[in-house]
Amino acid sequence: MDHILEAISADAPSEDFASLAIPESYRAAYVRREDVDMFEGMASSDKDPRQSLKVGEVATPELAPDEVYVAVMASSINFNTVWTSIFEPLSTFGFLDRLARESEWGARHKRDHHVVGSDGSGVVIQVGSAVRNWKPGDRVTIHCNYVDDQDPSAHDDSMKAANQRIWGFESNFGGLADLSVVKANQLMPKPAHLTWEEAAVNALCASTSYRMLVSPNATQMKQGDVVLIWGATGGLGGYATQLVLNGGGIPVGVVSSAEKADLLREMGCEAVVDRKAGGYQFWADEHNQDESEWRRLGGEIRSQVGEDPDIVFEHPGRQTMGASVYVTKRAGTIVTCAATSGYKIEYDNRHLWMRLKRIVSSHFANYQEAWLMNRLIQRGAIQPTLSATFNLAEVGEAARQVHHNEHEGKLGVLCLAPEAGQGITDHAMREKVGEDKITMFSRHAASLKNDSANS
Ligand SMILES: NC(=O)c1ccc[n+]([C@@H]2O[C@H](COP(=O)([O-])OP(=O)(O)OC[C@H]3O[C@@H](n4cnc5c(N)ncnc54)[C@H](OP(=O)(O)O)[C@@H]3O)[C@@H](O)[C@H]2O)c1
Repeated sequence: MDHILEAISADAPSEDFASLAIPESYRAAYVRREDVDMFEGMASSDKDPRQSLKVGEVATPELAPDEVYVAVMASSINFNTVWTSIFEPLSTFGFLDRLARESEWGARHKRDHHVVGSDGSGVVIQVGSAVRNWKPGDRVTIHCNYVDDQDPSAHDDSMKAANQRIWGFESNFGGLADLSVVKANQLMPKPAHLTWEEAAVNALCASTSYRMLVSPNATQMKQGDVVLIWGATGGLGGYATQLVLNGGGIPVGVVSSAEKADLLREMGCEAVVDRKAGGYQFWADEHNQDESEWRRLGGEIRSQVGEDPDIVFEHPGRQTMGASVYVTKRAGTIVTCAATSGYKIEYDNRHLWMRLKRIVSSHFANYQEAWLMNRLIQRGAIQPTLSATFNLAEVGEAARQVHHNEHEGKLGVLCLAPEAGQGITDHAMREKVGEDKITMFSRHAASLKNDSANS
């Protein structure tokens, strides 16, 4: 890949990129089919991504007409990579085998390794014969909605397509690698004022939050709405908090430490619930929830903002859904995109129907939603939440940290980029947005590291 990196560093013209040879193999992070039972019988928290995620050479797939090869400069850890690496709730090889049955091109995805990763920034190296809007040399970020437009429902909203998939989770050739194969309709322009790793961490979580809060496909928050955000400095929550503040809403951020509460306030979120300090226990035991705890949370929210949430931004799932349904304002909306703590959900339906609340489901984002979110990042209205950067060889450790909730915001991973800090082409824009704003999460994480080293 050295010749490709040289062309990127030299900012070579498009013709030069087009003539670069595509290597027969490339370095990637992957799990192996032979390992899917390696953690059998273990508790989830004991399953260690460092054991299952390998980094090594894999064969380069052929390029379909609607695809491009991207030299991936940086990528990020998403929770879906944690799921793949611990083979929960299912092994992702089942997804690849299903995709393989769909078409000749789909068959490429069925391999004995699954290259993971659903985010990326990089440079287009070669384009397939049907690609119109992109050319070799283009600097891009990649969103993870992998859609076949031959399904009629994809033309209403591509998230409705029956064979809609998440790239690098339900498809192979993901972004945690030096090279990737993606559909041209996954490409978006790289924000020129960001480094490769700052540009790489946003698309999956930011676009998901955008659909949940801004898009008419979910809640379409309005000015003045009170929004309760679980995990408000996490992968999704770090963007949700910014979107609510930008849109004139009133965020109530839930976090689990004083340090995260500080970060949230620095972001401009005044109402903060520290769920750990508050000692919230929504489940009295394995089978029964404690309604008095729902009421206590509702009371804390009211005491801070004077009313109940119009919207609850849900993703922890089983642990929090009962409380989320309870605290939502009459006729308000709970929007959910996940269930990290368990997907068999229980809530008291009386609190839903008697008070005319709705639960709305949301999943990633269509191309337009991802594009509009990317535009907000390009314009400096939304900042990356990159808190730390790892090398590809350390991908297992980065995934372990996300698995154990030891991180804030997003963790970046350098792929072809030899070091952090590269890739900025619009320095004036960076200055205009403000270094302090762009690097808020990484400065906060660095100061915590310093504090713990000094204590
Ligand atoms: N459907 C989609 O398109 C989509 C897209 C992105 C992510 N997801 C899913 O959404 C979930 C969150 O993703 P993420 O990237 O935001 O993960 P993340 O970076 O780990 O952040 C989630 C945050 O939620 C909070 N949290 C975790 N468990 C909790 C619990 N039991 N009770 C209350 N709060 C809890 C934690 O914050 P505190 O400890 O500070 O409270 C954590 O930092 C994952 O399951 C992921 O797979 C779905």
